[in-house]
Amino acid sequence: MREVPFSKLDINETEFDRVREVLSSGWLTHGPYTEKFEKLFCDYTGAKYCTTVSNCTAGLHLSCLAAGFSDGDEVIVPAQTHTATAHAVELTGAKAVFVDVDYETANISITDIKNKLSDKTRGIIPVHMAGFPCQMDEIMAICDENNLILIEDCAHALGTLYQSKHVGNFGIAGNFSFYPTKQITTGEGGVIITNDKKIYDFVRTHKAFGIDTPPKMRHKPGLYDVRTLGLNYRLTDFQSALGLGQLERYDSNLKSRKENAKLYENLLSKSDKLEFLKYNDDSSYFIFQILLHDNISRDKLIFHLKKRNIGCSIHYATPVPLMTYYKRKYGYKLGDFPMAEKYGENVITLPIHSGLVKADIMYVCKTIIDFLEKTN
Ligand SMILES: Cc1ncc(COP(=O)(O)O)c(C=O)c1O
Repeated sequence: MREVPFSKLDINETEFDRVREVLSSGWLTHGPYTEKFEKLFCDYTGAKYCTTVSNCTAGLHLSCLAAGFSDGDEVIVPAQTHTATAHAVELTGAKAVFVDVDYETANISITDIKNKLSDKTRGIIPVHMAGFPCQMDEIMAICDENNLILIEDCAHALGTLYQSKHVGNFGIAGNFSFYPTKQITTGEGGVIITNDKKIYDFVRTHKAFGIDTPPKMRHKPGLYDVRTLGLNYRLTDFQSALGLGQLERYDSNLKSRKENAKLYENLLSKSDKLEFLKYNDDSSYFIFQILLHDNISRDKLIFHLKKRNIGCSIHYATPVPLMTYYKRKYGYKLGDFPMAEKYGENVITLPIHSGLVKADIMYVCKTIIDFLEKTN
């Protein structure tokens, strides 16, 4: 039987060689690959500055600290996201205020942002869900009118454009993730991009303990000062070596994802028992999601796919405000985020990575359509 894994690592010989080169150099952090990777990331996204971080959660946390969010502030985040988006806010002492999403895209609802604004609102963190760009014009207008700080969660969005500009460039910072299932990987890892030198300096200093002088700039070994409280959120140089290679090859990876999305659209539009977003060239297709109609059992379909060796996932089954931590803290309950909840109940994430061949997607679609036909 054919096997279609949900995700598949794609690490080539050059990348293995570079990682080996760093490991045998004896200089595992602060090395040349980090600078090269950051530079290429700037070239790719059009951002002025980029700094690597140990993961996207760390990047979001640093971005929230750079924004100055703290006790008493409120920061708006979507209810349909990874918990990291909200945690980053809460770790500063500010309150994550959850907003419902649009059912079609699972991106933050502009109407609900307006409903949740208060005197305490200091910022908004939209998430470009599945790689599909949020309505940045509207979000920026709200930020301008209300003097709010915009930080983008681009964990899903390497290669995502909005009006021909790479996402992550619309607010003070854009945060990317290189977790193994993402479009490119460094194991764990992430970057922050920004066009503001002050934000760049802040995150560079705070990702390394608050130390004022990086190792290469020290006049005497070990001589540095600490003027502020910082963290250790650095990425190693061998991870950057891997990331550099992955990013160098990303154009072809993205092209395959887009071709796969078009094929999914083609094949799945034969069924009237599911919905999905129409193909959009600005999306980077981190994942491809389908929404089942309410009367169809998602569990049964997932089981059906599993039995036929097809990997799938759910992003995200439980809206973050309905996770125990947030429910206990803020008293959220079922029904507070109707669209995020419905999305969580009906969505299935299908494999779309660049390791798939046409026959894999045809097999996935046929398996889904066969199941849907039999259920009614
Ligand atoms: C939307 C979103 N934000 C943030 C993160 C956190 O990324 P990381 O695992 O790199 O910390 C993830 C992780 O998958 C995510 O999906």
